[in-house]
Amino acid sequence: MSSSTSFYAQILHDADEMVSVEDAEEEVCDLYSVYYSRDSHDRLDLVDPGKTELEIEIEGGKRSFVVTIGQNPNINGELGQTGAVLWNSSVVMSEYFARKSYSSWNLADLNIVELGSGCGLVGLTLHRLGARRTVLTDQPRMMKLLGRNIDRNRVSAVSKRDKTTEVLATEYVWGALPEDQEVLREPVDMVVASDCVYHESVAPLLVSALVDVCRSRSTSEAGGRTVGVIGQELRSDLVHQAFVAQLLEHFVVRRAPVSESVDRVYALYFVWLRE
Ligand SMILES: C[S@@+](CC[C@H](N)C(=O)[O-])C[C@H]1O[C@@H](n2cnc3c(N)ncnc32)[C@H](O)[C@@H]1O
Repeated sequence: MSSSTSFYAQILHDADEMVSVEDAEEEVCDLYSVYYSRDSHDRLDLVDPGKTELEIEIEGGKRSFVVTIGQNPNINGELGQTGAVLWNSSVVMSEYFARKSYSSWNLADLNIVELGSGCGLVGLTLHRLGARRTVLTDQPRMMKLLGRNIDRNRVSAVSKRDKTTEVLATEYVWGALPEDQEVLREPVDMVVASDCVYHESVAPLLVSALVDVCRSRSTSEAGGRTVGVIGQELRSDLVHQAFVAQLLEHFVVRRAPVSESVDRVYALYFVWLRE
């Protein structure tokens, strides 16, 4: 893809290879009867919640790099502290982005917002892959950890074509537009979220945040629409169905097909606002 191709155009180009999701009940039926299998998966839920620091090797085909992630294991399990430890979905998503970036996608010109960043692996991976601007967001209590992880992984600036790159963390509690203008300061090309629906009460809030970020970009702006990329470990079929139904109310929804990188315990969705 040329450097001027928008992310939306890149996704439309790939859309034929994706599964078109039209109905939440059918989607869950497909996922849980045909696709889904938890057998022989040792990479479920949390990566290693006992450690204060993890070295995550992100493999993207022939190339790989390491992202260093600090965690707060002591607060694992407390209500509202799920992001203080790293979830495997974020490794799956990061490797997917790395593969795509090395094989076909151009991330260099993108302005990216991550929702519910937790320890920040997905956003930091996108930063390492050369995204022009990456804004990691989460609830106020996560800012210290996110800030430390940014400091550990910030690359000093230059992507292949000598363009500067920027990564920052800021608060964004879903449900109302973000208070910090930094989040929507520039048109957002991609909004990402990894494993942010772990309970049915969270789904409508996440969907409302996705809608807010996507609506903040006018469709007449150069570069087209904001694309949401959402990675989700498959746990409760009912919670997942409710989440997909809520996505379908607002978005065109495509799912990446089963592959080596997105296997049978995760679903990876690409969404953009309906006309
Ligand atoms: C299961 S963790 C996933 C963290 C990270 N994305 C990962 O994959 O490792 C869910 C994240 O969503 C965030 N979150 C939950 N509800 C939120 C809300 N209402 N507003 C903003 N963030 C929220 C949590 O703070 C947490 O970091």
